[in-house]
Amino acid sequence: MTVWVSFKVNGGPVDLEVEPMRRLADVLRDDLGLTGTKIGCNAGDCGACTVRIDGQQACACLVPVAQVAGCEVRTIEGMGADRARAAGGPGAAAGVAPREFTDLSELQRAFLEVGAAQCGICTPGMLMAAEEVLEGPDAPTETQIADAIGGVLCRCTGYRTIVEAIVHATAPAAQVGRARPSGDARPDAYGAARERAVGARLAKVDGIERVAGSAIYGADQPSAEFLVLRAVRSPHARARFRFGDFEPLRQRFPGLAMILTAADIPGQNRYGIYATGKDQPALADGEVRHRGEAVLALVGDAATIEGIADADVPIEWGPLPPLGDMDAATAAGAPQLHAHAKSNVLISGRVARGDVQDAMGRSVVTAEVDVETTFVEHAYIEPEAGSARRVGDRIELFVSTQTPYLDRDEVALILGLRPDEVRIIPSAVGGGFGGKLDLSVHPLVATAAWLLDRPVRAIWTRPESMTASPKRHPSRIRARAGADAEGHLTAFQFHGDFDTGAYASWGPTVANRVPVHAMGPYEVPAVLATTRAIHTNNPPAGAFRGFGVPQAAIAHEALMDDLADQLGLDALEFRLRNALRAGSVTATGQALRASAGLPACLEALRPHWASWRAEAEDWNVAQATANGPARRGVGIGAMWYGIGNTSMTNPSTIELGVDRAGGLTLYSGAVDIGQGASTVMVQIAADALGVAAETVGLVSGDTDRTADAGKSSASRQTFVSGNAAKLAGEDLRAQILQLAEAGDDATITLGDGRATVLEPGGRPVEIDLAELSPVRGTDASASPVLLGRGFFDPTTTPLDADGQGHPYATYAFGAQIAEVEVDLELGTTRVLRMVAAHDVGRAINPTQVEGQIHGGIAQGLGLALMEAYVPGRTENLHDYLIPTVGDIPPI
Ligand code: FES
Repeated sequence: MTVWVSFKVNGGPVDLEVEPMRRLADVLRDDLGLTGTKIGCNAGDCGACTVRIDGQQACACLVPVAQVAGCEVRTIEGMGADRARAAGGPGAAAGVAPREFTDLSELQRAFLEVGAAQCGICTPGMLMAAEEVLEGPDAPTETQIADAIGGVLCRCTGYRTIVEAIVHATAPAAQVGRARPSGDARPDAYGAARERAVGARLAKVDGIERVAGSAIYGADQPSAEFLVLRAVRSPHARARFRFGDFEPLRQRFPGLAMILTAADIPGQNRYGIYATGKDQPALADGEVRHRGEAVLALVGDAATIEGIADADVPIEWGPLPPLGDMDAATAAGAPQLHAHAKSNVLISGRVARGDVQDAMGRSVVTAEVDVETTFVEHAYIEPEAGSARRVGDRIELFVSTQTPYLDRDEVALILGLRPDEVRIIPSAVGGGFGGKLDLSVHPLVATAAWLLDRPVRAIWTRPESMTASPKRHPSRIRARAGADAEGHLTAFQFHGDFDTGAYASWGPTVANRVPVHAMGPYEVPAVLATTRAIHTNNPPAGAFRGFGVPQAAIAHEALMDDLADQLGLDALEFRLRNALRAGSVTATGQALRASAGLPACLEALRPHWASWRAEAEDWNVAQATANGPARRGVGIGAMWYGIGNTSMTNPSTIELGVDRAGGLTLYSGAVDIGQGASTVMVQIAADALGVAAETVGLVSGDTDRTADAGKSSASRQTFVSGNAAKLAGEDLRAQILQLAEAGDDATITLGDGRATVLEPGGRPVEIDLAELSPVRGTDASASPVLLGRGFFDPTTTPLDADGQGHPYATYAFGAQIAEVEVDLELGTTRVLRMVAAHDVGRAINPTQVEGQIHGGIAQGLGLALMEAYVPGRTENLHDYLIPTVGDIPPI
C-alpha cells in the first residue's frame, strides 16, 4: 500500500507517493537523492543518519516516512545552503550541497579548520546533532555539547576536535583564535618568500565534500542504476552444505536475475593477500569455515531481493564441530581446516638475539606476565559497499577500499582476467583502520556484473559487516623480562599465539611484525620472541591498526612497570634509561641512526608525570579521609612502530602533471581513508615543485589514472608515497626549468596556458603549454603535457631465520600517560585525562597528525576498557560498544 506524504526538506516542499512505513533515511537517499544522510547501522545505534525534524534531532533510519507528514526535515544538504543561496552560489537550489569554502556554515568551517572530519562518514550526522547546540546558550559547556552529540558515533577522531569545532562555532569570534593556522613563512628552498605547505595546518583537500555531505561513499551512487546483490551466509562456524533445487525460487521471484554460486566464478575461487595465502573463496564451495561466510549471492531488483528470506533459499546444512579457539585448533587429532596446509598453524615468526637463558639467569630482577586479548571489531561507520559494471571486455568497480591495486589484481584472478582488464575506482572511504584492505563486496558484484552485463551493487548491513569482515587478532601472550641492578634491561622472552580465524587474510603480517616489536621500544641485548598465527573456525583476523603490535605492547609495558617497581625506580625513568635512541641497535640487529625520538617523548611527558601523580595522591588522601570509594592513579606506556611492510619491498609511484591550460594535477594512488593522505601528498608535491598547494588538483586512487602507490596501511603513505610525491614535484620542476633554461633558484608560475619561469634579477621566460603534446591520454585539454614522476621504495632487508635484518627503513615512537579513576566498590574505571608525545618524524600537516593520535587513543581506550567481539553475540553496535564522546577524556 502506498500513500501520499507531504513534508518539507531543507525548506522546499516534497510530495511523495510512498509506502508509509519506509525508513525516512531510505526515502531521503533513494527517492530524493540526498545521500548526505548516511546509514551506518539502520538500528539507531550509530547516529550517522541524524537529521532534524521540526528542530529535533532524530535517527532517520528509525522514522517511518509517514511520521514526518507536515513536518520540516533538515538534512546536511540544507546546512550552509542559505549562505550559498544569498550569494547565488551552487547551493541556490534546496538540496544542492555547497561546494565552496565560503558557502559553508560557521559550524562546517570550524569542523574543517580544526580537523573534526577525518573520513567524514559521521560528519553529516554529527553536524546535524551539533546544530542543536548552536540554538542553545552562547557559550555551551562541554557537557552540553557532549549531550547534544552523544548519540552520534565517530570511530576516527576521538571526538575532542569535534567538541573543539563546536566550541569555536558557538563562541564569539573574538574569544577564540579563529584564524586558520598557517605554515611558516620563511624563505623556501628556491629563494622565494612564499608560504611553505609542508608543516602547515592546511585544511583537508577533500574536506569541503566531507562537511557538506557531498562526498560519494560506497553506498552513495544513485540506486536506480543497479541490480542489487545480497549474499546468503552461513549460520554455522563449520559445516558442509549442498544446494537444493533453485527452480521454485526462480519461479516465485521473477525479479531474481541470478543465483550466484561458487560454480559460477569464472576464474580462481581463491584469493588472499599473500601468494602463499590464497585460501579464501569468493563463495564457499561445499564447506564453510566461519559463521557469516558467503555461500551464494542473490541478484535482482531491490524489491525482489528484499522479499527473499534466507530461509527461502534451499540449502542443506551439515554442521561439524567447530574449532572454537586456538587450544582446540592445536589439540592432537584436531581436524585440519585447510587441506593444503600441514597443520592449523598458518605461520610462525621469530626474532632471536643473544643468549636469553643466560642473560635472564644473570638478571638481578625478573618479571613475568600473561596477557589475553579478544577479537576487536573495526567498527568503521561506513559498512562495506560498492558496485561493478562491465564496460566492453573490462570490468569497473567503485568500492570503499584501502588498496585499489591489490583489489584490482585479486578481482582479475577471480574473474580470470588480466589485471589491466580491471579498473578500481575508490569511493570516499568511511573509515578503514586496516579492515578495508581485504576484499569485501568486490568479488561478488564483479562476477555478477560480468556475467549479467548489468551494473550490480551491494551494501552490507551492519550485522553482515561485523560477521563477515576481518577483526583484530585475539592473542595469548606470555612474556618475561630481566634487568640489572642499575635498571638496564638484560633479557626479554616472548611468545604470542594469535587466532587468525578461518582464512589467512593479514595473519602472516601479524606473525612477522610482532616479534620485531615484542620487546617494546627498548634496547635489550638478549631477546627471544616467537609467534604463531593459528587457524580456527572464527572470523578471519586481519589488519587492524598496528598488526598485533598493540597486543604485544600490553605485555611489554606491564613488564616495564613491574621491573621498575622491583628496583624502586620511577616508571618513566626506567623507560628512559632503556629507550631506543639514535645509535641503539634493535633486537633484529638494526642500528638506528636517526629519527628515534622516544627519549624526547618521555622528557616531554615528565612535567605532567610529576604533577599528575602528586595531584592524584592528594586526591586519594582526601578520598580516604572521607571514606570515598574511588582512587586515582597515573600510568605510563610507550610504543614504537616500523613504517611500512615488514622486510619486503614497499614501492610507490606518484605523478604530478601540468595540462595545456596550466592546471596542475597530482595523480596519487595513495587512498585517503580519513588519515589525510591526499592532503599531505598535495602539500609535499606543491613544495617540491615550488607552487602553492591550493593550485594542485587531485586524481586519487583510480587504477586507470594513477600509478600504484601501494596500500594505505602500516603508516606507510606519508613516508613512502610522500617521498614519491616529493620526487614527482622535483622531476616536474626540473623539466620546466630545463625548457626555460633556468637555474634552480628560479620561481615557477602556472596558468593561462603558460609556465612562467623567473630567475632572480632576470626576465620572465614563458613556455607556451599549448604547443606541447599530451604525454598521455586523449583529452587534449585535461591530459598532462608535462608529467613529473616520483618512485620511492625505502631500503629494507629480508630477515634471516633468527629474525636478523633491517625490517623497516624507519620507525615511529610515542609515549603517553593517563590518569585513571577506579571505583573500588563498583569496579568501574574512568580515564580522566591523557597526554601523548609522539615522534612522527616531520609532521607534514600537524592537524592530521594530531587527528591520528587522538583517534588512536580513542581506539586504544576501546580496546582496553570496553570492546570485545564475540562471534554470534556482538554483531551490531548496541551489543558491541565503541567509545562515545562521553568516554574520551581531554587529550
Ligand atoms: Fe567520524 Fe570517520 S570522521 S567516523
